[in-house]
Amino acid sequence: MDSKQIREKYIKFFVNKGHKEIAPAKLVPENDPSTLFTSSGMQSLVPYLLGQVHPVGKRLVNSQPCFRAEDIEEVGDNRHTTFFEMLGNWSLGDYFKKEQLPWIWEFFTKELKLPEERLYVSVFKGGNGVSKDGESFEIWKNLGVPEDHIFFYGVDKNWWSRSGSPDKMPVGEIGGPDSEVFYEFTKVEHDTKYGEKCHPNCNCGRFLEIGNSVFIQYLKQEDGTLKKLSQKNVDFGGGLERLTAAVNNTFDIFQSDLYVAIIRIIETITGKGYQENKNEMQVIADHIRAATFLIADGIIPANKLQGYVLRRLLRRSAVKMRHLNKDTKLTSLSELIEPALTVYGKEDDGMIQKVVNEEMERFFKTLDYGLKEVSKIEKIDGRKAFDLYQTFGFPYEVTEELFRQKGQEIDREQFKTEFEKHRELSRTASAGMFKGGLADQSEIVTKYHTTTHLLHQALRDVLGPEVFQKGSNITSERLRFDFSFERKMTDEEIKKVEDLVNEKIKQDLKVDRKILSPGEAKKMNAIGLFDEKYGTKASVYGIGPGSSLDPKTKDQRIRGGYYSLELCGGPHVEHSGLIGKIKITKEEAISAGIRRIRAQIVA
Ligand code: SER
Repeated sequence: MDSKQIREKYIKFFVNKGHKEIAPAKLVPENDPSTLFTSSGMQSLVPYLLGQVHPVGKRLVNSQPCFRAEDIEEVGDNRHTTFFEMLGNWSLGDYFKKEQLPWIWEFFTKELKLPEERLYVSVFKGGNGVSKDGESFEIWKNLGVPEDHIFFYGVDKNWWSRSGSPDKMPVGEIGGPDSEVFYEFTKVEHDTKYGEKCHPNCNCGRFLEIGNSVFIQYLKQEDGTLKKLSQKNVDFGGGLERLTAAVNNTFDIFQSDLYVAIIRIIETITGKGYQENKNEMQVIADHIRAATFLIADGIIPANKLQGYVLRRLLRRSAVKMRHLNKDTKLTSLSELIEPALTVYGKEDDGMIQKVVNEEMERFFKTLDYGLKEVSKIEKIDGRKAFDLYQTFGFPYEVTEELFRQKGQEIDREQFKTEFEKHRELSRTASAGMFKGGLADQSEIVTKYHTTTHLLHQALRDVLGPEVFQKGSNITSERLRFDFSFERKMTDEEIKKVEDLVNEKIKQDLKVDRKILSPGEAKKMNAIGLFDEKYGTKASVYGIGPGSSLDPKTKDQRIRGGYYSLELCGGPHVEHSGLIGKIKITKEEAISAGIRRIRAQIVA
C-alpha cells in the first residue's frame, strides 16, 4: 500500500464516521505572529478546541503538511523528519476515548491490516494533579490488546501540548494526556545495546510511534495550575510517512514511496549508494522536501525568521551533497524538487527551481572561501561559528558538522548569544514569536486583521481586480500584506489606497460575521480562497453598511452591499472606527509579480 492509498483510506474512514474533511492550513500560518510554522494539525483549530463553534461541525478530519524546525538535528535516522504529513481527526467536544481508541484500532488493524501482535500502546500513568488514565487502559484491554503490550508513562511521554509537559506549557496553552500506538518492526535493525530493557518509547528504532490520540482537556492558568476546559476534545495525529513504513514493514521511512525517488536521484548525482551513506542522504531528502514545500508556500531564503530556516535547510543539504561527492554542482540540488513533488501529483512551474538555484549561486560564491577559513581554524567556539555564519552564510548546523568531523564541539549557547547580540530581531519577533505559538487575539492584532480586509479591497479599487492577496502577516506593531501586481505602485496610488482605507475607518462601518457555503460566497463576489474541494461552509466577514448576506437585489449581490466581503477566520473589531488611522510605510517587490505593503496603525 502506498502513501496515497493510506491517506485516502484514512480520510474515507473518518468521513464515514461523521467527520467533515477540512482544508489543510498553510505551512506558514497566515496572520498568526506567534508562530513560524504549522507544526501540527491542531494548530489552526485552537479557538475551536477552546470552545468556539466551528463552521462545519464538531467532527473534523484532514491531512496536514507540518514542519518542525526544532527537529532539524534529529533528522538522519530511520524515522525523524522536519517536514511530514499528519493525518488528523478531531472531536471538538463531541466523542471521546471510548469512540476514538476503538476507531483508530479498527483503522490500523482492519483498514491498514497491521498485525495486532505487532502493535503496542501507551497510556498516561498520572502526574501534575491529573490522575492515571484507567479508562483508556480498560478500552485497550477490551479491544484485545494484551497487558504486556500496554505501557504506562508519565507527563514526559504521555502528555501532549505544543510545548510538551504541563510544566513547560505557557499560560493560555492547551493540552492533555494522550495514548499512543507503536508498531514493532519485524526486520529489526535497531540498536541492540538496549537489549531486554527496550520498550515502545525507547529510541533504539525497534518501535515506531504511528499515532497519538491526545485528549485535550486542560488549559494552563496564571497560577501554574491546569484548569479543565469546558469541553473534552480529541486531537489525533499520525505521521503518514511513518504509517507507510509500518504498513510496508520497511523500517526506514526513507525507503517509502514518499522519498525513494529523491534518494535515487541523490545517488545518481553523487555517484554514491544509499546503504553506505544513509545519514547524509536522509538529511538531504528531508530538507529538500521541506524546502520545496516552504518555497511553494511563498517563503524565500532570508536572514531571519522563516526565510532563515529555509536557507539553513538548503545550505545544509548543499554541504552534504558536496560531502558525498566534492565535485557536485550546488545547483544540482534543484533536481530533487521534481521527485519531491511528483508523489503529490504536483509540479513546479519553475519558481521553486529558480529560488533554489539562486540561493545555491549565492552560497557557491562564499562556500569555498568559507571552507578555507574553516581549515585555518584550530579550535572552534561559538563566536567563530557566528563569524562563519555572518561572513560566509554558514548555518550553525553546517559549521557544527564540519568541526564534529574534526572531533570538536561548539558551545551552542555562545553561538546563540552572539547571534542575538548581532541580529536585530524586531521587538515583536522576540517578544511574541517564541512564546509558544498561540494565536494572538489581542486588541491591536484584531484591529490589524480588519485593516487587512480594508486594504485588500482598497487595493482592488485603486489598482484593479487583478490584485489578489498572496499572503499576510500581522504583529502587534504592523501589518504586512503581499498581493499580486505586476509593477511598482506610484506614490499617488499608495496615497489613494491609504486615504481610501482611512475614509472607510472614519465611516465607522460595522463588521458582520456570517457562515456561508463557497457557492453562496461566490455568488456575492466575496474574496478569499474558497476551497471547492472541501465544499464546506466557512466564515465570511462583511465590512460596511451591508444590508444582507442573503442576496436578493443586484446591489446585494455585489458583496452583499458591504464595502469588503472576505473569507476569514477572524478575529475582527466590531466596527471600523475602532481602528483609528493607518499609514502605509513601505511598498516593495518580493518576487516576480508579487508586491508587499507594510502599514501601521498610527492613531
Ligand atoms: N497534536 C498531536 C501531535 O502532534 C496529535 O495530533 O502529536
